[in-house]
Amino acid sequence: MQVMEVTMSCIRTAARALMLAAALAGTAWAGTPQEQLGALSARAGRSPSAAQGQQFFNAKHGREWSCASCHNAQPMGDGKHANTGKTIAALAPAFNPERFTDPAKSEKWFRRNCNDVLARECTPAEKADVLAWLMSLKR
Ligand code: HEC
Repeated sequence: MQVMEVTMSCIRTAARALMLAAALAGTAWAGTPQEQLGALSARAGRSPSAAQGQQFFNAKHGREWSCASCHNAQPMGDGKHANTGKTIAALAPAFNPERFTDPAKSEKWFRRNCNDVLARECTPAEKADVLAWLMSLKR
């Protein structure tokens, strides 16, 4: 009887450790839009502004394209690449659950696209503003 109880308690402890490990791995590898927004805002040192994000996204910054040129002014639906014509899936996370779930992917595309649009990287504040606006778009 006693052995049974010890065994059960071992199994429970192991299960708990496993769940904790999964939770930690989740934050390290997957990320959520909310977590990415938190990290960007921390780096920016201020709260994000969805209104500024919308303006930034739709404005040209001295070059040929705005973000909206490829992603649509209303990025709840498919966009179309301004150069290749290829379809780009919706950028707003409520309309595309894969968006902003992989920080490495988001960073890679922020870097590439900001360079195309602004001829420089976007600042953490600019990225946080854009993400805050994208997250404010709901079904
Ligand atoms: C020339 C076309 C083009 C322009 C202009 C453009 N993008 Fe993109 N963007 C893409 C493509 C292509 C992808 C990758 C394909 C995909 O993820 O659907 C992408 C992906 C992204 C992602 C990845 C999101 C994720 O985590 O899945 C972000 C963030 C992004 N763009 C932001 C921006 C911002 C901000 C601007 C304006 C500064 C911008 N883009 C302008 C073409 C463009």
